[in-house]
This record gives sequence, structure tokens and C-alpha cells, in this order.
Amino acid sequence: MLFDKPGKACTEKTLEIAKERGKELGIEEIVLASSHGDTAYKALEILNGFRLIVVSYHYGFEEPFKNIMPEEIKRDLQEKGINVVTSTHALSGVERSIAKKFSGVSPVLLIAETLRLFGQGTKVAVEISIMAADAGAISGKDIIAIGGTARGADTAIVIKPVNQSDFFDLRIREILCKPRNF
Ligand SMILES: Cc1cc2nc3c(=O)[nH]c(=O)nc-3n(C[C@H](O)[C@H](O)[C@H](O)COP(=O)(O)O)c2cc1C
Repeated sequence: MLFDKPGKACTEKTLEIAKERGKELGIEEIVLASSHGDTAYKALEILNGFRLIVVSYHYGFEEPFKNIMPEEIKRDLQEKGINVVTSTHALSGVERSIAKKFSGVSPVLLIAETLRLFGQGTKVAVEISIMAADAGAISGKDIIAIGGTARGADTAIVIKPVNQSDFFDLRIREILCKPRNF
């Protein structure tokens, strides 16, 4: 499935596609990005029957020591059975500071930029799968990972997940949907 344009308008369809293919493949865990909580709540409606892992932005992304996702939203999602993971971004981390201070190129940021050739959502899906793996939130079986372009979801991929120390063993098995023009 190719969306004409990226963005939040693709969210419902992306989640429905993930649900259908996830069932066909017997996938149990779906990892998705949500910064404010909107996509997480949509996933609660649509992705019933899967174990949901929501990955948020790290603390300090916009404001030092603050998270974009309000604490009461995080708590509510956890009470509803979602595992909310918040940690250092796997495809930037300390390299973001190195790039800010010294400019130039850092390998991890280059990996991120290369994945963005497929669209923002593909980079995000890969990144959050690693963050979920390193937080102990997934079992190691194939997952579906869902990302978007700034807000919402527009990309769903089937991934053989890995921890950050085994990055090059990660496999993108299937691209279920993504935007075509971005
Ligand atoms: C760890 C993380 C990294 C993200 N990186 C990017 C990015 O590089 N580019 C981008 O367009 N969106 C990025 N996003 C946004 C997500 O793809 C997604 O659209 C958003 O988190 C959905 O939030 P919402 O549920 O509040 O709409 C990132 C989100 C998270 C949680």
C-alpha cells in the first residue's frame, strides 16, 4: 500500500493494514511511535489482540527534563495495558550533541538519514524497534513497527528486531505501507 502523501491522515489505514498482516503472520507485538499519545489511543481502538508497545520521544527533546507526552497520558496508557518506552533515541543519541558542537557527519546520524530515503516513518519504525528491544519490551520474535512523519502514522513494516549492539542483523522483512511522495 502506498499513500499519496505522508502524514497524520494515513494513521487509521496504517493501523488497519498492520492489524490485517499481523494476524496473517501470527505477530503478537506491535511497536509504534507516539509523541503526544494520539496514535497510541487510535492503536488501542484498532489493534486489539496485540501486545502494544508505544515509544515516545526522549525527555528533553523539546525542553530539558520535560517530555512531550504529558505524564497523565503516559500513566493512562499504562493503565490501559500499553507498555510505554521512553529512552535515548537509538538513531541519534549522543551523536546529536557531537553534530551540534562540531558539525560534520556522524555514522549513526548517517544511518538515520539513509533510512529516511524510504520516508521518515521507515527511519522511525527501525529506531523505535531498537529502543523497545533495549528496554526489554519485546520478546525477540518478529514485530510490526509503525512510524510516521512528525505526527500520526503512515508507515508499517515487519521487522526481525535486534538490540542496538546487533544493529546490522536487523531485517526489514516487509514494508506494509509507506508514503510514496515525501
Ligand atoms: C523516538 C521517536 C523518533 C521520531 N523521529 C522522527 C523523525 O525523525 N522524523 C519524523 O518525521 N517523525 C519522527 N517521529 C514522530 C513519529 O514518527 C510519529 O509520527 C509521532 O510520534 C506520532 O505522535 P502522535 O501519536 O502524538 O501523533 C519520532 C517519534 C519518536 C517517538
